[in-house]
Amino acid sequence: MYTSRITGMGHFVPDNIVTNENLSKMMDTSDAWIQERTGIKERRWIVEGSGETAATMGAKAARIAINKAGLTKDDIDFIVFATLSPDMFFPGCGVQIQDMLDMPTIGALDVRNQCSGFVYALSVADQFIKTGMYKNILVIGSEFHSGGLDKTTRGRGVTVIFGDGAGAAILSRSEDENRGILSSHLHSEGKHARELTVEAPSIAHWVPQIMEDNDPDDESYYPYMNGTFVFKHAISRFSEVILEGLEKNNLQTTDIDMLIPHQANLRIAQFIQKKFKLSDDQVFNNIMKYGNTTAASVIIALTEAFSEGKIKEGDLVVLAAFGSGFTWGSVIMRW
Ligand code: COA
Repeated sequence: MYTSRITGMGHFVPDNIVTNENLSKMMDTSDAWIQERTGIKERRWIVEGSGETAATMGAKAARIAINKAGLTKDDIDFIVFATLSPDMFFPGCGVQIQDMLDMPTIGALDVRNQCSGFVYALSVADQFIKTGMYKNILVIGSEFHSGGLDKTTRGRGVTVIFGDGAGAAILSRSEDENRGILSSHLHSEGKHARELTVEAPSIAHWVPQIMEDNDPDDESYYPYMNGTFVFKHAISRFSEVILEGLEKNNLQTTDIDMLIPHQANLRIAQFIQKKFKLSDDQVFNNIMKYGNTTAASVIIALTEAFSEGKIKEGDLVVLAAFGSGFTWGSVIMRW
């Protein structure tokens, strides 16, 4: 059996920086509240009318990743695109990437697993590589949150947390048994689906009825989050799934060289860091700059950690995520 390893990465975030101070002019909130609860100082939001979307940002990140891997678009065998904010209800963003990058008619798959999206997408790609079906897979996580947020005080509990951005990785076939993805671990618990959700637009709401109602007060188009409930589940699931991955590989928390937690909330990452007694050098966070970019967060953080020289060959790198669904997962890699 082959092994798979990341051979190139890239990320893209919109230029437009939205600070906590900027938000406090749109809604009743404050820099102190946001920083104290989440650690976020600023996030990037697409400027309305700029034409940027989840697919366009994903394409920009993908071009960088392909280039860094020393490949061309024609070397890519398959696309996996993770997002909760696709450009269209259907088809998914994966086929848009195939078109935007002018790729051959390779397969494209969209993953709908929210904050765990990139971890799920990487795991899917890993299976295709390990079985020998494909050699190079383009894995993208991209989110365009800002166009779907309630930017009034009514939405403040959710809106201040989320940012836009994209990241991409090339997962390639390798024959080096000591490097690459060692294992991935995926979970879900659908009974909590409504604790973090955007319910509409959905066919379950009967489209003719939605159009007839045309109700500006219909909050089902905006994200709903039971923040405290999500927080409690996140801290226990993050810990569980990291330990599950380490145990599977006969490793301990002391073996972790770099933990890249999904950037949900700095407090969650700090809780895990403390619980596992990890130093600041063993955990990478950038939520302060970007907020929670959902399916993009893990790959943007991994790209930045690598480009800042914080990951070197032979390091044990752990990716972990938790989010809406609930879904959660981890990927254990030897870099
Ligand atoms: N600015 C100011 N006040 C705000 C606010 C904001 N942006 N958002 C909410 N509040 C208010 C609430 O209305 C509430 O006021 P009240 O006590 O008068 O009713 C008060 O602040 C406390 O709200 P609460 O929701 O209990 O705050 P919290 O301490 O639980 O923090 C989160 C809220 C969202 C930061 C926190 O629950 C969290 O991070 N949850 C997990 C989120 C997450 O990880 N989501 C992604 C999953 S992948």
